[in-house]
Amino acid sequence: MRLLPLLPLIFLAACSDENLNLFFDIPPPSQQELAAKAAREQEKAAAEAKAARQAAGTEQLPPEEEGEPPAIEAVRSWEQAAEMLPKDGMDQADWVEALEQGVIRPREAIGGPRRGSIAVFKFDFFLPGPDPSFDAFFPHSAHTEWLGCESCHPKIFRVRGTAITMDEVFAGKYCGECHGTVAFGLDACARCHTAME
Ligand code: HEC
Ligand code: HEC
Ligand code: HEC
Repeated sequence: MRLLPLLPLIFLAACSDENLNLFFDIPPPSQQELAAKAAREQEKAAAEAKAARQAAGTEQLPPEEEGEPPAIEAVRSWEQAAEMLPKDGMDQADWVEALEQGVIRPREAIGGPRRGSIAVFKFDFFLPGPDPSFDAFFPHSAHTEWLGCESCHPKIFRVRGTAITMDEVFAGKYCGECHGTVAFGLDACARCHTAME
């Protein structure tokens, strides 16, 4: 048995601080040390739970951590608000940029908390066009900052490889369900056909 000489060491390693006192002359931990250790463990558990909520996108900032509301919330007319928003190539509000720059910080519901982080699904790709100059950029990431998966799957987009034509989009199908209605308009060709810029 070659392990045998190691056994006392293994035994000692498995001992708690209190048991070690039986073998060595170590003073037992003071109340303060025990309290500090408990506080460190609690802090670590809270940090781990927070990281897990952030990873799951369910982290919500408590009111005291929300900070100052963005300046745009103080204005009372669309004209004033529009001036503060970043614009896209067609001079319409660029909401994706506004969110990224922190110009707006939406709440999940009226009176609800602001989200501390947003779970972004990073699967961005180009839908192939008849030639590469008309490939259409589809960033899942920009969409999942605003929408749940169920906004598109399975009703609007069921599978990979849907054959989409611009006529259908102009007629309000696929991307056209939202673009031109609740999202930026179809006249901003270059935001989707990035090679057209
Ligand atoms: C919201 C995104 C979006 C916008 C905005 C958009 N398109 Fe498209 N377009 C698509 C998608 C998706 C397809 C289908 C995949 C592909 O061919 O790239 C497409 C296809 C096309 C095609 C390929 C041929 C065809 O008819 O299907 C052309 C040409 C085209 N678009 C031109 C335009 C022009 C011009 C504009 C601006 C007036 C525009 N598109 C605005 C998403 C968009
Ligand atoms: C704004 C609409 C939209 C939203 C929201 C959206 N998707 Fe998609 N998704 C698409 C489009 C468009 C495609 C490509 C469809 C095609 O090519 O036919 C796609 C394709 C996919 C594919 C590829 C399917 C395959 O078989 O290759 C997966 C997986 C997917 N989405 C998952 C998700 C998940 C998970 C979410 C939520 C986190 C989500 N999507 C949110 C529009 C969306
Ligand atoms: C369910 C609604 C919905 C559908 C369907 C949808 N979008 Fe969007 N899209 C949005 C919203 C909401 C935004 C963010 C607000 C805005 O930019 O107006 C957005 C933003 C975008 C952006 C801007 C990304 C950025 O970083 O600036 C692109 C590009 C885009 N969509 C392309 C597409 C294409 C291509 C399709 C079809 C394959 C599509 N979208 C289908 C709702 C949709």
